[in-house]
Amino acid sequence: MEFLEVAKSRYTTKKYDASKKVSAVDIEKIKEILQYSPSSINSQPWKFTIVGDQEVKEKLGKASYFNEEKLVEGSHVVVFSVVDDLAKFEGKMESYLAEGAVWYYNNFLKPQGEEKIKTWMSEQVYLAVGYFLSAIASMDIDSTPMEGIENDKYKEILGLEGYQPLVAVMIGYRDEEDGNQPSKTSKQRLEMQEVVELV
Ligand SMILES: Cc1cc2nc3c(=O)[nH]c(=O)nc-3n(C[C@H](O)[C@H](O)[C@H](O)COP(=O)(O)O)c2cc1C
Repeated sequence: MEFLEVAKSRYTTKKYDASKKVSAVDIEKIKEILQYSPSSINSQPWKFTIVGDQEVKEKLGKASYFNEEKLVEGSHVVVFSVVDDLAKFEGKMESYLAEGAVWYYNNFLKPQGEEKIKTWMSEQVYLAVGYFLSAIASMDIDSTPMEGIENDKYKEILGLEGYQPLVAVMIGYRDEEDGNQPSKTSKQRLEMQEVVELV
């Protein structure tokens, strides 16, 4: 499918078919797609946790406000977390980053302070989320990006040491009746001329 078609047909799934699960073969592909996520200076300041276990999904569901039903009925949830142990990150970065990247981190980012570094790292994680939403749609798998989660509870349930959950993406297959699919609810976007300029 041409990418424009993927962009027009993907949508935020509001109701999943609990009887359909993402296959083990596709989960392996998804693991690799996540591993290949791009980031500034190739910093990769993240952890991706894929949860398919029903009991754990339901526990996470209870910490997901209005998103709970999606956690119960969807196939897997991918939790996107950011590094929150900077000392550990800095201790490890020289082992995998190019010399210029280490220079950039030490001389450009670090002098701006911890808050700036953590914001920059979170931006990398969000970039991975966007990339993932497109990738998963290209596999004909439905998804729901979710900021409506209790981040600290997610951290505790998943035992994420040194990482802070930021956003989760539910994946699975839509319930036929899902009213949010483009055939039932047309996509809403600002007008092209308001958001895109060709100079
Ligand atoms: C970072 C992010 C967080 C979102 N959080 C939620 C959420 O918690 N629950 C939900 O149902 N939709 C959530 N959405 C879905 C948006 O509302 C949706 O992407 C937007 O309305 C555009 O619709 P579309 O994805 O169907 O094209 C989120 C989207 C993004 C990008």
